[in-house]
Amino acid sequence: MRASGPATSAPSLDTVVDHLRRARAVCVLTGAGVSAESGIPTFRGGDGLWDRYDPAELASEAGFRRDPRLVWEWYAFRQRAIASARPNAAHETIAAMERHYPRFTLVTQNVDGLHQRAGNAKVVELHGSIWRTRCTRDGTVAAISEPLTSVPPMCRCGALLRPDVTWFGEPLDRTALETAMSAASGADVLLVVGTSSAVYPAAALPGLTRKAGGKVIELNLEPTPLSAIADASRFGEAGTLLPSIWSRIENPKGL
Ligand code: OAD
Repeated sequence: MRASGPATSAPSLDTVVDHLRRARAVCVLTGAGVSAESGIPTFRGGDGLWDRYDPAELASEAGFRRDPRLVWEWYAFRQRAIASARPNAAHETIAAMERHYPRFTLVTQNVDGLHQRAGNAKVVELHGSIWRTRCTRDGTVAAISEPLTSVPPMCRCGALLRPDVTWFGEPLDRTALETAMSAASGADVLLVVGTSSAVYPAAALPGLTRKAGGKVIELNLEPTPLSAIADASRFGEAGTLLPSIWSRIENPKGL
């Protein structure tokens, strides 16, 4: 992970609006910060999940092998929190963006499914979904509609089921990663929302956009390692920033 530094320049909100208005192909990359205002905790920073829980214990294959019940209890706890949360204004704005742009891809590192609940149909889930299980024997994936009440769940074949998410040390789903890389490379604008830009390969996507000549815009509470290379960074809550930017695109006469 690179050290984070302050943004070197602060292009105006007009510049951000202008990039998004001219764009035909848009890719949005989201992280845990986009769900923070729905009450879902982020991983890093004050009060982040990794301050309170050990990722080696709860988000690794070795941890799961050691104690599948403990890992599933944590996932079932998170499923309950997510099930009682609602998409926020940031999710809703990103759903409106999908309806607006002829070429649009949403790539998320989130496993919570809140983008789909807000109305996004085309979601590339880079780190999987908390709402799916995967058989540890043959890899069969199945959807879950409710938080699990009995853990650890077992497959019909008798093997343990695991959450269909990417854990530390595991490769990302190849199709999801290739779709994300192609969308980032082909984007006129990559809008990066609520991610610490600390976890690869997701954190490498903005580099692909810039290399291909597209613009990178970052929205975050605070500067991240991406801020130094983004074409524009705006700092604040995604649920406030995104609707205020988007209202100027949907309603240009309001300028
Ligand atoms: P992090 O928890 O690392 O970062 C969340 C980011 O959101 C931080 O940069 C915050 O400043 C920002 N943020 C918080 N609240 C916000 C708000 N209301 N509006 C805008 N920004 C806000 O989450 P990710 O970057 O998503 O992976 O983490 C990436 C991956 O690391 C996760 O998918 C997860 C984690 O370990 C796995 O579990 C494999």
